[in-house]
Amino acid sequence: IHNVIFNSSLEASKIVAQEIANLIQLKQELNEPCVLGLATGSSPIKVYEELVRLHKEEGLSFANVVTFNLDEYYPMDKSNIQSYFYFMHEHLFNHVDIKPENINIPDGTVSANELRQFCVDYEMKIKSYGGLDFQLLGIGRTGHIGFNEPGSHLNSGTRSITLDHITRVDAASAFLGIDNVPRKAITMGIGTIKNAKRIVLLAWGNNKAEILQKAIEGEITSNIPATYLQEHNNTTFVLDSEASLELT
Ligand code: F6R
Repeated sequence: IHNVIFNSSLEASKIVAQEIANLIQLKQELNEPCVLGLATGSSPIKVYEELVRLHKEEGLSFANVVTFNLDEYYPMDKSNIQSYFYFMHEHLFNHVDIKPENINIPDGTVSANELRQFCVDYEMKIKSYGGLDFQLLGIGRTGHIGFNEPGSHLNSGTRSITLDHITRVDAASAFLGIDNVPRKAITMGIGTIKNAKRIVLLAWGNNKAEILQKAIEGEITSNIPATYLQEHNNTTFVLDSEASLELT
């Protein structure tokens, strides 16, 4: 992996959005789908803003884009404003020309009986496109990527998981109290993510500085799943100066 450090997250986000736009256009010229793995949360918001601007002002088309989101709370209704389904439509999908049938988000409404099969099918669908061309990531204070919490296996695939307490604490304000935060989620696995041809992880602000030091400079361990990215040959950590403060 390598790191790039920017003075501002806005400047960094524009550069990441431009990389994604370039990939979309390259794939267009090749007449191929562009398969993007997408994240939610605060970190990618300005990347999506810039992609929407590129669509509206510079003619970037999403007609050949296929997306797979990393995760969704479970259980979770699509209409719930805390759902990742809602988030993605609000920040990106409602404002670009992506085909609705090309949008894939783990389904927080499947029954407990169907959950395992849903996850297997999600994984298979990603593989059917030849894997992810580009995966956008954030990082949680537990070191999670997607919702792969500490203990996640290197070769894990899409599955349901139990959220770490720290992750639920961090989500509490959005849910107006920790008791309202779901205890489970569906997430792509570490194996799913690591199969992406290109990975860009975004992290802003000093509350990410400590975990980033461990993720980038620490030994590879399932206790900090983001350390698995050290073994991926095309990963960039994009940081602002505050997030980089603990790096040696
Ligand atoms: C979200 C996801 C999570 C977040 C992480 C950081 O789809 O997969 O791993 O990226 O929890 O969240 P923020 O960006 O809100 O700090």
